[in-house]
Amino acid sequence: MKSYPVFGDMDMADTTIAELMVKDHERIAKLLKDLTCCLDGTPETVNKVFNNLRWDIEKHFVLEEKSIFIHIDSGDDDLFKKMQVLLKEHERIKDLVRNVQVDLDNDRKIDVDELVKSLERHKNFEDSSFYPELDKQLNDDQKRGIRGSMVSCV
Ligand SMILES: [Fe+2]
Ligand SMILES: [Fe+2]
Repeated sequence: MKSYPVFGDMDMADTTIAELMVKDHERIAKLLKDLTCCLDGTPETVNKVFNNLRWDIEKHFVLEEKSIFIHIDSGDDDLFKKMQVLLKEHERIKDLVRNVQVDLDNDRKIDVDELVKSLERHKNFEDSSFYPELDKQLNDDQKRGIRGSMVSCV
């Protein structure tokens, strides 16, 4: 089973949270590509590759929700609203993942088009808007804490 290093080549102390998250998003995108490339493979292969992806999406969302979003002040209107949109999208993506799992469990052919599109949209919004804005709001202590969570979580 393939795995992709996350922060191996990066100097964590000098890296913005946005840059770190772009890296983690790229890793998930690669796992998603592995899945779309193996859809005609054996059920065992599809199951394995999907499990890999599902686990990484779950970890990524936990990292965002429990270690990053907690730093957003409800008084920061713009960022708080963006976070609420992102949380809704997480729920929607988790539903899509569950639906694929149900199809796999019932030996049905899976369709991941909606999951691919939703993850791509979600990632683009986080990379281009949410994380660059968040980096401007966080202090050094908060950034250090987030970096620490990322290293132990991924
Ligand atoms: Fe997210
Ligand atoms: Fe993300």
